[in-house]
Amino acid sequence: MSALKYAAITGWGDGLPPAVLTNADLSTFLETTDEWIVQRTGMQERRVSHVSAIEMATLAGKRALACAGLEAKDLELIVYGSCTPDEQVPNSASGVQLALGARRAAAMDLNTACTSFLYGLSSATAMIQSGMVKNALVIGVEYISPFMDWSNRNVAVLFGDGAAAVVLEASDTPTGVIGTVLGCDAEARQVLRVRGMGCSYVHPDLHYGDTAWDFDGQAIFKRAVHGMSEACGRVMREAGVTADDIDLVVPHQANLRIIEAVAKYAGVPMERVMLTVQRYGNMSAATVPVSLVDALKEGRITPGSLILMPGFGGGLTFGSLLVRWGERITPLGTTDADHPPATATALEMVNAIRARQDPGGRSNEALTNSRFIETLLQSAS
Ligand code: ACO
Repeated sequence: MSALKYAAITGWGDGLPPAVLTNADLSTFLETTDEWIVQRTGMQERRVSHVSAIEMATLAGKRALACAGLEAKDLELIVYGSCTPDEQVPNSASGVQLALGARRAAAMDLNTACTSFLYGLSSATAMIQSGMVKNALVIGVEYISPFMDWSNRNVAVLFGDGAAAVVLEASDTPTGVIGTVLGCDAEARQVLRVRGMGCSYVHPDLHYGDTAWDFDGQAIFKRAVHGMSEACGRVMREAGVTADDIDLVVPHQANLRIIEAVAKYAGVPMERVMLTVQRYGNMSAATVPVSLVDALKEGRITPGSLILMPGFGGGLTFGSLLVRWGERITPLGTTDADHPPATATALEMVNAIRARQDPGGRSNEALTNSRFIETLLQSAS
């Protein structure tokens, strides 16, 4: 095994579901308005999926492989970044491996919430740099709509479903991820929690799908800005580049105002920031790769572009990657693959989920009684 020093991004593709949920749709069942959502978050629309997360991820994978001109049978690693796996066992990366026919590929799920794609991209890059594998498919995918507490306007307006993926290939030219800062502000892990997903909630009275979202929006806001800004500063310093060298920022998109604050701290004007928050909301792990794919479609990435990718998520994990784009900005190939048509509108799908949910009612006790490491540590001290 001889290690090549870099992991170039040679393929990219999305697996976005087509159904669009507007702010006006949300205001049919929540006390909210288009004006409030746009002013406070910058969001106008988001997607709701009629297919599973693995199906979204597989479509993204097919498009990314076609773009790279790589056959699925030659793929060596699949990293599936997500906090909403279709199942816990078997993992979801194995489902993508099966659907793609990538029989030689190792397949792992990685969950750091909204930063899962950034953590996955840096992990796969390191595995290629070490010579362990020659190529990888890195996916960011999230299927949030079935787990959303649609009765809570504080969070229900913020999220959407989606997926996108990139192909990495070993290279000796300095492209791909050239700088990495990853971290975790675990002292604040309680400010962003989705109750109802995971072993802590095994309880006879929990109806799976009922959730309660413990979100301290303002605390998340401040820590997100702080974590991402620090990470951007550090990754640029360590790589010996300045804000003037950055051609495009492709950030996690949880709120337009968070993005504006991070860009300001980083010293990059908003004209050089890729914004997708208005059309997709926050898709957690899918946000950065979908924004990257859109940036390529819109011609905002040119040969040799230097791209800064900051993100944050539950944990509170955070990070910032510095990516040097290669020469090629157009796909080598395309595929006819697509999702089957949706037979219901986004609002109809959400209303069907709402009809099955009763988070504040039947599941209340199961959602509130849990052992969390931070509370155990606090009571022990
Ligand atoms: N429609 C109308 N009113 C609303 C809505 C809504 N959808 N949601 C909240 N409000 C109300 C609140 O109830 C509150 O009313 P009150 O003053 O009568 O109590 C009022 O609006 C203001 O609430 P604030 O929390 O002060 O609003 P803020 O300006 O902080 O915006 C927001 C809230 C958008 C959540 C912001 O804090 C934020 O973006 N936080 C971080 C983002 C976040 O949490 N994203 C998810 C993180 S997950 C991830 O990406 C890692």
